[in-house]
Amino acid sequence: MLRPSSLGLFLALGQSLLSAQAGPQTIQLQSRTAPPAATQKRRGLSPENIPLVDFFRGTDLQWFGNITVGTPPQTLTVIFDTGSSILAIPSTLCDESCDNQTKFDPTKSSTFVDGGTIETEFFLNRFVSLLRQNYQNPNPGFLGVGVDPVREFEGTSNYDYVLHSASDVISVGGLTASATRFFLITTQSDGWALDPFDGIQGMSARAMGFFGSLISQGLPSLFSLYLTPQAIGNAEMTIGGIDTTKFKGDLIYASLPAFTTTSWSLISPQFFVNGKSTNALKASRHVVFDSGTSNIVFTSQIANELYALISPDIVPHDAEPGSYGIACDKIDTLPAVIDMTFTAQDGTPFNLTIPSSELNVGPFDDDPTICQTLINAVEDVPALVGGSLLKHYYSVWDVGNQRLGFAAV
Ligand SMILES: *[C@@H]1O[C@H](CO)[C@@H](O)[C@H](O)[C@H]1NC(C)=O
Ligand SMILES: *[C@@H]1O[C@H](CO)[C@@H](O)[C@H](O)[C@H]1NC(C)=O
Ligand SMILES: *[C@@H]1O[C@H](CO)[C@@H](O)[C@H](O)[C@H]1NC(C)=O
Repeated sequence: MLRPSSLGLFLALGQSLLSAQAGPQTIQLQSRTAPPAATQKRRGLSPENIPLVDFFRGTDLQWFGNITVGTPPQTLTVIFDTGSSILAIPSTLCDESCDNQTKFDPTKSSTFVDGGTIETEFFLNRFVSLLRQNYQNPNPGFLGVGVDPVREFEGTSNYDYVLHSASDVISVGGLTASATRFFLITTQSDGWALDPFDGIQGMSARAMGFFGSLISQGLPSLFSLYLTPQAIGNAEMTIGGIDTTKFKGDLIYASLPAFTTTSWSLISPQFFVNGKSTNALKASRHVVFDSGTSNIVFTSQIANELYALISPDIVPHDAEPGSYGIACDKIDTLPAVIDMTFTAQDGTPFNLTIPSSELNVGPFDDDPTICQTLINAVEDVPALVGGSLLKHYYSVWDVGNQRLGFAAV
């Protein structure tokens, strides 16, 4: 999930969080609750594997896992989202818009501190299920679901939060961060209501919040994602390390561009579709890797270039602005291999590949004979790739070395 065009605002928020976190007073308020063994090992904390659940509706959408908040700990589920930076969870302060989710109750936590400020967050490129009716009344012949492009209306979107700032103990996989800044959701727009998870934990390229705190306690400053398709299962995040049992061969690392701030992006000099490229696809561009996004997002110019190499029958689907579709009976036989070239740290090019099987995102709600295709068009945002690429690789998100690593699974 990526926040919208006001990326600068987001950065400013992230940085203020970081400085609040580093404030000596905040740190001294709570004692660390690391187990004695970890305290004795002067090298700090050890990596932990966090099991993840696939949010699947005909297509793999997002992967989420448990965190605990407060003392005693209250368990909630969150997406570990490389496209955002903060932790936001539903709370008992939330109105009826959070009714279907687990709510954190600050009055039951002895370590809770009210931060006292109100913020509004809205997310671009959320892409969740479009077919609410089909979800509630699944029909046996139903192959998949579309994903819902986020729409912006006058500075707000269909994926908004109103947030109340707070601080408390946060634990992930047994690793504990005391006095960590986070946000209580007090209202959310209805785009969130169908989610099987409760909140979002941002995992941006700058360590903030609980991850920043764990790093300051000695945890290695990287995490890894194994985002498997539903048929494979056993998805996991390894926080502070790499699970070498989950991939084959070597990891290939690529450096983040020097000016990157919170964003996990790499520069790609060229895209290919089914081995072919065009002048427009040869232009160098940033590609943001966002574990909270299911589909791919490009400008309409690039989306049109890519689709033209797949099939002239793929056309914009006007009922869902930004989405494209084609007759469902044509889609499954279309070759649609998308190769994106990147440059490894040693200077050699490598491709990340999205196979043809990802093209079909499922039938549209308003016309189930038309199936939605993988690439969405949104202007004025960086190119975004998410789960449909990441699930074909083991990925390492190395904050300390400002690089991304990929290996074949
Ligand atoms: C989350 O924790 C609950 C217990 O609080 C457990 O039942 C569930 O399996 C956990 N889920 C994951 C993904 O670890
Ligand atoms: C919660 O789920 C119920 C049953 O699916 C639905 O009727 C209700 O509108 C949902 N509430 C929210 C806030 O989305
Ligand atoms: C990337 O994919 C394209 C298209 O299939 C191919 O021509 C090119 O050689 C590949 N590059 C690398 C480094 O594998």
